[in-house]
Amino acid sequence: MTGMRWVFIFSTLVSTVVFTARSQQPQECAGVSCEAAASGLRAFSDPSPQGLRGNGRACADCHIPSEHFQLSPASAEARYLYWQLRRQFDPAADDPLFRPIDANDFRSNGGQANDYTNLRELALIRVTFPLPPNVKLVDFSTGNTTAESSVDVWRAVPSVQNVALTGPDGQNPVARGPNSAGGYQRDARFGSLQEQARAAFQSHQELIDEPSQALLDDVAAFEKTVFSSPRAGALADGVRQGLAPLPNADPPLTEVETKGKVVFARACAHCHGGAGMSTTPLPVVVRYHDTATSCPRPVDTANPPRFVYAQCPPLLENNVRTYEFTTAAGQKIRRASDDPGRVLLTGFVGGAPPTDDWNKFDVPGLRGIRHTAPYFHNHSAATLEEVVDHYIAFFNFVRAQQPPGVFPPVASTNGVAFDRQIQPEEKAALVAYLKRL
Ligand code: HEC
Ligand code: HEC
Repeated sequence: MTGMRWVFIFSTLVSTVVFTARSQQPQECAGVSCEAAASGLRAFSDPSPQGLRGNGRACADCHIPSEHFQLSPASAEARYLYWQLRRQFDPAADDPLFRPIDANDFRSNGGQANDYTNLRELALIRVTFPLPPNVKLVDFSTGNTTAESSVDVWRAVPSVQNVALTGPDGQNPVARGPNSAGGYQRDARFGSLQEQARAAFQSHQELIDEPSQALLDDVAAFEKTVFSSPRAGALADGVRQGLAPLPNADPPLTEVETKGKVVFARACAHCHGGAGMSTTPLPVVVRYHDTATSCPRPVDTANPPRFVYAQCPPLLENNVRTYEFTTAAGQKIRRASDDPGRVLLTGFVGGAPPTDDWNKFDVPGLRGIRHTAPYFHNHSAATLEEVVDHYIAFFNFVRAQQPPGVFPPVASTNGVAFDRQIQPEEKAALVAYLKRL
């Protein structure tokens, strides 16, 4: 299989090369120089590109090409077990996926850390943020704020497929940056693939040398050629060329899948819109969202409960930290989350729900989504069926927050009816459609 997928990538490169060579143009692959893309591909799987010194990891150790350029728990665990097996015979055996910075006990044991629970069981990677000046962490046992100036959150490795279709798009900006109209990473904190690659080299690969701009450009060029299917690639071509209408990236659909597409348009596309399915196209719906994927999740006290989210596994509950925010008015607000998303960039809580940055994430693209389970920033949904169940709870939750008879655009197509909800009989069709993207 690995071979097959590489063939797809290479044949895409090669066929584009052949096509453009015939037309006597400089060789172009998916809108970038083929030479740059080829060099970026080499750097992507090279632990020391251009001889730069790091921790022995390459981009491809986490964004595994044979796994649709992401990392699944099954593959992290298999690699861990194989590493341990090899260590029985060779104490120096190494797998660069496992570096102390991504061990659970890194903060207490530093370079000796070796508890890889989050990585093995959920394929989660440590991402560290400096705390905004008005934010403190709360000690779990004493309830007092701590002297910590940074916080660790644990995030799943997104695919780099289709990044040419996602990222900043200039549409429907929010009030606060960074990247008020879309970006890369789960919180959209980077505005370009170059900026993203530089940060990845420094944080995940612990490079001690500065990567050159040319290297970053090449990596970005390569990433722009990586698609989940030739259809997604053709769509990106269309976007680049400004075609109207854009090519349809869906394959031929069955009757059931077509029904699912109609459900998607009503229940999902107001957030997962645009060519990348990652743009919130309506100015009435805010660009970044809290879709209650963080842990712990809201629990309804009404009986019978009006909404029921799946409970988070204990492992994710262990990653929860309590934050204390001091608002501009001097008010202190405490909230708990395994990953509060964009608020770590802005420190802004306490406004009306759409303006508050707590637990807000960028909307990810969905092309090729069947290949990249589990889902959400913390891998808390194992399957697309679980994702859809989560959204059923989400719409019920939104309804429960509102005064009777008032429905915000996120749950209503006309502000009057609660009609974006997925009905039980629509679930199978929606999942069938998602599996065709
Ligand atoms: C240790 C594992 C690891 C390594 C090594 C790694 N990444 Fe990532 N990558 C991640 C994680 C985790 C995220 C999500 C981080 C976040 O949202 O804060 C991510 C996010 C990304 C994204 C954003 C995708 C999107 O849709 O927004 C891109 C692009 C990317 N990585 C490219 C790279 C490149 C290029 C390299 C090598 C220079 C690299 N990564 C190395 C784990 C890794
Ligand atoms: C209110 C905006 C909003 C709506 C409506 C919405 N989504 Fe999402 N979606 C998001 C955000 C934000 C995330 C990122 C959450 C995270 O990473 O924790 C996301 C994540 C996802 C993911 C996980 C992607 C991944 O790579 O892990 C899937 C799948 C998904 N949504 C499908 C859907 C479907 C299907 C619907 C319709 C039933 C839908 N979404 C409706 C905002 C929305």
